[in-house]
Amino acid sequence: MRPLNLCINIFSGFIYEQQITMLLLRRTVQAGKHGRSFSASQTLLSERKGLVLGVFEKEGEEGGLHLTEAAAGFDQTLSGKLSELLKISGPTLKQGKSRIFYGIHKDFPCVAVVGLGKTTAGVCGSENWDTSKENVRQAMSAGCRLLQDLEVKHVEVDGCGDAQSAAEGAGLGLFQYDQLKSKKKNKVTTQLHGSADSAGWQKGVTYAEGQNLARMLMEAPANHITPTAFANTIEEKLAPHAERVTIHKRSQAWIEQQQMGAFLSVSRGSEEPPVFLELHYNGSPDSKQAPLLLVGKGITFDSGGISLKPPSSMDAMRADMGGAATVCASIVTAAALKLPVNIIGLAPLCENMPSGKATKPGDVVVAKNGKTIQVDNTDAEGRLVLADALCYGHTFNPRAIVNVATLTGAIDVALGSAATGVFTNSDWLWEQLQKASVVTGDRVWRMPLFQHYTRQVTDCQLADLNNVGNSRSGGACTAAAFLREFVTAPHWAHLDIAGVMSNKDEVPYLRKGMSGRPTRTLVEFAAGLVHKG
Ligand code: BES
Ligand code: ZN
Ligand code: ZN
Repeated sequence: MRPLNLCINIFSGFIYEQQITMLLLRRTVQAGKHGRSFSASQTLLSERKGLVLGVFEKEGEEGGLHLTEAAAGFDQTLSGKLSELLKISGPTLKQGKSRIFYGIHKDFPCVAVVGLGKTTAGVCGSENWDTSKENVRQAMSAGCRLLQDLEVKHVEVDGCGDAQSAAEGAGLGLFQYDQLKSKKKNKVTTQLHGSADSAGWQKGVTYAEGQNLARMLMEAPANHITPTAFANTIEEKLAPHAERVTIHKRSQAWIEQQQMGAFLSVSRGSEEPPVFLELHYNGSPDSKQAPLLLVGKGITFDSGGISLKPPSSMDAMRADMGGAATVCASIVTAAALKLPVNIIGLAPLCENMPSGKATKPGDVVVAKNGKTIQVDNTDAEGRLVLADALCYGHTFNPRAIVNVATLTGAIDVALGSAATGVFTNSDWLWEQLQKASVVTGDRVWRMPLFQHYTRQVTDCQLADLNNVGNSRSGGACTAAAFLREFVTAPHWAHLDIAGVMSNKDEVPYLRKGMSGRPTRTLVEFAAGLVHKG
């Protein structure tokens, strides 16, 4: 019997998942061009390997498919069996759609094939991202997850001509925070298939691991990731890069010495001591090169304080350290990539809790730069901790300052989870961030820093500034205007990431949960500064 016939026989009821797994496991299948026989049942469940391949839609040919290089190579070893199966098994695989074939190759009992869309997709001016890269991420993520659900332990992944994006899709798609569950998801290891671009693959693995570190920190419960535990975790993650990294875990006494009255006004309601985490990554061969300064809001739990939040979804406020998580994770990633730039990371870490000692609405506090702030709403705490961190950050004479914060519900109303809101005083910095985000697909959108908003926070009864605007409207913009009062540097950007903090199903290659966005954009942005003096 010719191999192709046998194959069609076996796969006549192809191949949507489990129904026929058992059937196929019992059959003996002719293996590819070498014509060897093998029994799929001999493959132990615990060592089953899978393969994820991509197929493009052929330009100008309705229903036509164009195999990637790896898929074409695989098809060849099976004497065209894969393309034959793709033809007979149903409609053409559209972008993101998948099909699984069982038992067609002796090394890979399960092969997932996923649609990559059109070969010509590329950068899209209206979507502000590279659709081809997004398609690869989505497809490789979907394929890996399908195989993970089949309890495949090791998956080889098609580089799809963009091994970095393929690795990102695989690494991000497989991530699941299940440390605290008794029943965990099947752990899957991945490897590049049919491509020589192992450098691109490794870079993608590192980018995905960076974002997954941020996801892990954000998803973890607030009784596990306290300010102290956060700082210790980052210290551990940076330990392999100790040669180029210095870490300071600044104590409450240091924070007091620095006269960070705004930061301390937030932490005072909690029993957990605050930590001011300071990371120095010295990657540049020129140790005197002005650093990039990244500042992340690190509220490990935001109850709202005395201006207590309503109980529904308050649990999500364990991720209110998303700014600190993405900033620190991007520095860990920069160190892993050995990026030749200097970066300083600052994370004011504390809880925002109500207690007899907590700051009360109407209290006035003094920030590090001497400005007085009337705290009319203790739930607008992010801007207070950032104000002091920004003042301190200027002492390093940074080439640029980027602060990242889950700052306002209003940015979620404005942009949803499509993009991070960026408020910046620098067209140059905006361009760098925007360019990076097109590559990563983790997008940014520029927002205004008009005096109009500044007036709303400087109009204050008792102090220089009010921590909330005098109007309910434009909340993300008044928060940014408040932060600007603590910035004198010419290249500063504030990234409000409250809208992108979590994922339901909007980003197809992230499961439901805390997103770790925009870690990859921060890394790509830092990498883009390498040749910029
Ligand atoms: N951490 C919140 C913002 C937030 C909301 C993050 C939803 C993620 C998802 C922040 O501290 C806050 O409570 N902001 C207030 C400000 C208001 C009191 C002026 C808000 O957005 O409602
Ligand atoms: Zn708050
Ligand atoms: Zn907050």
